[in-house]
Formats: sequence, C-alpha cells, structure tokens
Amino acid sequence: MVKKLLSVLNGEAASAPPIWLMRQAGRYLPEYRALRAKAPDFVKFCLNPELAVEVTLQPVRRFQLDAAILFADILLIPHALGQKLWFAEGEGPRLEPLRDEKDIAALHYDGEKLAPVMQTIRGVRAALANDTALIGFAGAPWTVATYMIEGRGGTDHETIRRWAWEASGSFDRLMDVLVDATSAYLIAQADAGAEALQLFESWAGTVPAGLFERAVLAPTSRIVAAVKAKHPSIPIIGFPRGAGSWLSRYAEATEVNGVGVDQMTDIAALALPSQVARQGNLDPVLLLQGGGAMRAEAKRLVQAMQGKPFIFNLGHGVMQPTLPEHVADLVAAVRG
Ligand code: CP3
Repeated sequence: MVKKLLSVLNGEAASAPPIWLMRQAGRYLPEYRALRAKAPDFVKFCLNPELAVEVTLQPVRRFQLDAAILFADILLIPHALGQKLWFAEGEGPRLEPLRDEKDIAALHYDGEKLAPVMQTIRGVRAALANDTALIGFAGAPWTVATYMIEGRGGTDHETIRRWAWEASGSFDRLMDVLVDATSAYLIAQADAGAEALQLFESWAGTVPAGLFERAVLAPTSRIVAAVKAKHPSIPIIGFPRGAGSWLSRYAEATEVNGVGVDQMTDIAALALPSQVARQGNLDPVLLLQGGGAMRAEAKRLVQAMQGKPFIFNLGHGVMQPTLPEHVADLVAAVRG
C-alpha cells in the first residue's frame, strides 16, 4: 500500500492532497480530555506508552487522517538533558532557566529517559492501518533553546537573543548540545518505526536576520544530515513558523524534503525547488470558526496547489476550543 503522505514527500503531486493537522491530538477532543484527566502530570502522560498510543490514534480513528503524529512534546528533550520541566495548570510549560555556561556544561542527554516514546511509536505502528503514515517529531534547536533559556513561552526572547549576540560562545555550545540530542532522538524514532519526521521551529519568527544562519539554518542542516546518514530515505519536514522571506533559503540550506508553511505566507507563490513538498496553511481560526468560509478557503487552497507536491495542514496547531465536527467537515471538503 502506497502511503499518500510519503509519496508527496517524495515530490509527487496528488490530485486530492493528504491531510493531517498539527496538534490533531489534544484538548479539543473530549476523548483526549477524558484520558488526560487520569494523568494530571503532563510529562508522565507523554511518557506513558499505553496512554500515548491511545491519544495518538484518537484523531486518526475519528477523522481517517492520512497520518498520525506521535503524541509527545518538544520539551521532552530538555527533560532528557536533565533540565527541570513542569506544566503549570493554565500556564503552559515551565523550565528552570539555564543561567550560564555552568548550566550548559551540566546538560547530559539520557536517551533512556525517552525510551517510552520509542515504545509508543512501536505500539502506534502496530495499530495503524497500512495506508496511514506515522510522523515522529522534535523541536528544532532555536525553539527548544528559547524555552530552556527563557524558562517559559510567550516572551519576545530577549534573553536568548542577548546570549546569541554575545561572543562568549555559550549559545553555540547550547546549539551543539541540542543538535546532538535531537539527532539521536530522531534517529531512535526512525529506528522504532517513524516513517517521516517533522522539526518544529515554532519561534523562527523571533530570530534576527543576522543570527538566522547560526540559530536556524546551520543547526537544522546538521540534524538533517545526521538523521539521513543513518536513515537515508526518511523524509523530513521543517516547519520554520514565521520565517517569512527566509523560507526558500531554509529549504535550500537544510535540504529538508518538505516545508511547513504558516498562514501568513502565500503558499502557492513560494519559490521552492519543484520536488520540495509544501505543507500548510489554513488559518487555525478558520477551523475554529468552521462553516462555509472554512470550506471555501480549503477548496481554494487545494485548487491553488494542484500539480505541486502538497500536504494539507493548518498554518499552526488546532486551537483548543475548536469543535471536532469542524475537523470532520474540513477533511470532507479537502477530499471532496
Ligand atoms: O497532536 C500533536 O500535534 C502531537 C503532540 C504535540 C504536542 N505538542 C502535545 C501537547 C506536538 C507535536 C507538540 C509540539 C509542541 N510543544 C510545540 C511545537 C508546535 C507549536 O505549537 O508551535 C511547542 C512549542 C510545544 C511546547 C508546548 N507544549 C506548549 C507551548 C504547551 C502549552 C500550550 C498548550 O497548548 O497547552 C504544551 C502542552 C501540550 N503539548 C499539550 C498537548 C496536547 C496540552 C497539554 C494538556 O493536555 O494540558
């Protein structure tokens, strides 16, 4: 059975695009909330293979999406590096922020801590229909480092930008630590059965142009090269959200097989090599809203991307108050 997602990532156009959604597993699904209520500690929830397999499969079962995305979190890497991580109710993720060179030197990647994630991947693969692809993922170094240095989301990243502009080299050492850990983690995911990998660079939009090479392009290309050295044919999708005018340079420099495109970008007008898959980019607010406006925009997007290797997705994750019925409606519109 040819998996549609994988053939598009190989550069082939499909007449009806494959569809999956970032954050397709999560709090907008009542069946997710029911399981989550039994596991109040989010890190333990992610590291419980039985629950994580079930939560990964929930949206695929409900909507017959073309791919499952592993249920985990980008902040499991700092956790495996020994940094203290917790999720405060209603506040999002919190980490004990790195302060200096000493804190960086103390980071040691313990892949054993993430062994449950590999068990989840094996469990999902065993349960998944053979036309559905399994996507593994990790956060890209800049994005993960913003949480490690700022200690939380929702800042303008002033502290990490100061570090990056300093000449001391500690920022580059942190990037090295993250490149190595992320490469090992993604290779382990591919070994366990992930069939495609996505690198979430959710905060590409806060990187000053003068730092883009050191903070995004170089670390990402090193991860892609390390993974491909072990798994030459596994496709990798890079999602540099907010990268704007950097997108084509990003695709070229990192050699990813596909690029995720946010809703601010005109996806049909992107200048990319013809074999690079484009993934995106419906506004998550339209999915929240649902109805005719959503269906019309989805159809316009499918039309505009005819003949190109295109994966239907949102420009960012499913928003929490979204009604599941809207997702079913979107899938029908994209396939219809
Ligand atoms: O369905 C999927 O996409 C797979 C699972 C997944 C989660 N997080 C589960 C999650 C994925 C791919 C992620 C990636 C992730 N995590 C990113 C990159 C994508 C993006 O949104 O930009 C980032 C920045 C994180 C860090 C993170 N984790 C934040 C900022 C939050 C809090 C915000 C929120 O939505 O609550 C989380 C928590 C989180 N990760 C939840 C889920 C389902 C909600 C936790 C809960 O159930 O309380």
